[in-house]
Amino acid sequence: MAFTIAIDGPAAAGKGTISKAVAAHFGYAHLDTGLLYRAVGRRMLDGVDPLEAATSLMARDLDATDLRSPEVAQAASRVAVIPEVRAALVDFQHAFARRDGGAVLDGRDIGTVICPDAEAKLFVTASAEVRAERRFRELREKGVETSFDTVLADVRERDARDMDRAAAPMKPAEDAVLIDTSDLTIEDAVAAAIAAVVEKGAVRG
Ligand code: CDP
Ligand code: CDP
Repeated sequence: MAFTIAIDGPAAAGKGTISKAVAAHFGYAHLDTGLLYRAVGRRMLDGVDPLEAATSLMARDLDATDLRSPEVAQAASRVAVIPEVRAALVDFQHAFARRDGGAVLDGRDIGTVICPDAEAKLFVTASAEVRAERRFRELREKGVETSFDTVLADVRERDARDMDRAAAPMKPAEDAVLIDTSDLTIEDAVAAAIAAVVEKGAVRG
């Protein structure tokens, strides 16, 4: 049985948290597709050509420890505007999405471009201020020296680049269920996501 759940939305909206919980609930596999772009961005910062990095990407590249840094997030969004880089990452995502046992993929273009036939699609959002506050708190907990204003500017810059690009811009699929997590606890956001996915026919794998 292949059942694909596509979860898209902007930075720090709660996609990853919701995706992990939904995958655990249904017993599905989870792929954070942002890691693919982060791994390519990481290698670009090391001087590797982004297309070369995308075509030679290996599973172990997704385990690098610093992929979560704001610098790598910015590099990811810069390589993500290159159509050939996106094209080089499609096959891996397709194979993951159609695996037996069900799959949850989160990113920006899963419901629109990568898996337009996904059985369930969610678009998770929250205000830029709430998202920046969440990222700021995460970074501080990791001991990263930064300010709320820096994180907010970073989030806004990345949102704009992701929405305005010609190749697979971030936008809700027409048939996506919208979940605004601005005023939701994690538990409530996860419950809303599970309810929406059950509505689309997902059963525990
Ligand atoms: O994957 P994405 O960048 O969309 O966001 P995330 O990593 O799942 O969530 C970013 C942060 O927001 C994490 O620290 C979550 O614990 C937190 N969060 C929250 O406070 N309330 C929610 N409803 C969802 C996530
Ligand atoms: O965790 P957060 O939401 O901050 O970022 P991410 O999901 O790891 O994505 C990092 C960057 O990769 C995004 O800003 C996008 O530019 C790009 N990305 C994309 O273009 N398409 C995807 N399916 C996933 C990520």
